[in-house]
Amino acid sequence: MCRPEHFTVSYSINPWMHPEDPTDTNRALSQWHELRRVFERLQFTVRLVEPGRGLPDMVFAANGGLVVDGTAYTARFTFPERAPEADLYADWFRAAGYDVVAAEETNEGEGDVLLAGDALLAGTGFRTDTASHAEMAALYGREVVSLRLVRPDFYHLDTALAVLDARPGHEHIAYLPSAFDDASRAELERRFPDAILVDEHDAKVFGLNAVSDGLHVITAARATAFQHQLREAGYEPIGVDLTELLLAGGGAKCCTLVLRDRPTTAEEAR
Ligand code: ARG
Repeated sequence: MCRPEHFTVSYSINPWMHPEDPTDTNRALSQWHELRRVFERLQFTVRLVEPGRGLPDMVFAANGGLVVDGTAYTARFTFPERAPEADLYADWFRAAGYDVVAAEETNEGEGDVLLAGDALLAGTGFRTDTASHAEMAALYGREVVSLRLVRPDFYHLDTALAVLDARPGHEHIAYLPSAFDDASRAELERRFPDAILVDEHDAKVFGLNAVSDGLHVITAARATAFQHQLREAGYEPIGVDLTELLLAGGGAKCCTLVLRDRPTTAEEAR
């Protein structure tokens, strides 16, 4: 996670951002601290990246890269406003001991890539290029399922789709069908026949921008119908108010980059 110390909306790179409207950095900080407290209550290990001055979107750590199997694949941002964040995150990964592979292709990290079972679900259409999907497939030796986003208000995959259960063989997701093109929607229906379909209202309050540990699902407080659907399906939803960060087009998942270490083998554990 990255403290929203320099948070504001000073440029517009998605339809949520209106630089002419005021923002409240202290309010962003207190909402972010509440999210962090929720994670710590759930005993997640939270590690922090220092916020960079003049990088108001750096709070959205999900875009800082992709860390799977102990290897960090760096971000390469679409817009110049966010480009300098990539090196700051890459430096952090290196210092933390991850193998770092510099991306050749444009991608916005975990904002557009979600692990479901053994496969990577990868968004494209607004930010991440399909060429990077191929790059990730080669790097991780994993299947990459390309999904095309068609609605500018749901410009990153993690705004339109949430992985609720990532365990191989138990994959379960929630998504907003209208955010995807016909072929991607068909692919999602085929792979995830029991997915939770989220309504327009709850998607618009960024309910799908959720973090799940397989049981607890941290989502937008205002996504009440989605929380009901989650409870029916056996999850424990936790609503968090991140409305200030939504002024930049972000929510709980955007503020979170999951560090997936390489599984320790029995040999190494000895
Ligand atoms: N203002 C940021 C941008 O448009 C928001 C990023 C949200 N992050 C995410 N993972 N969806 O790039």
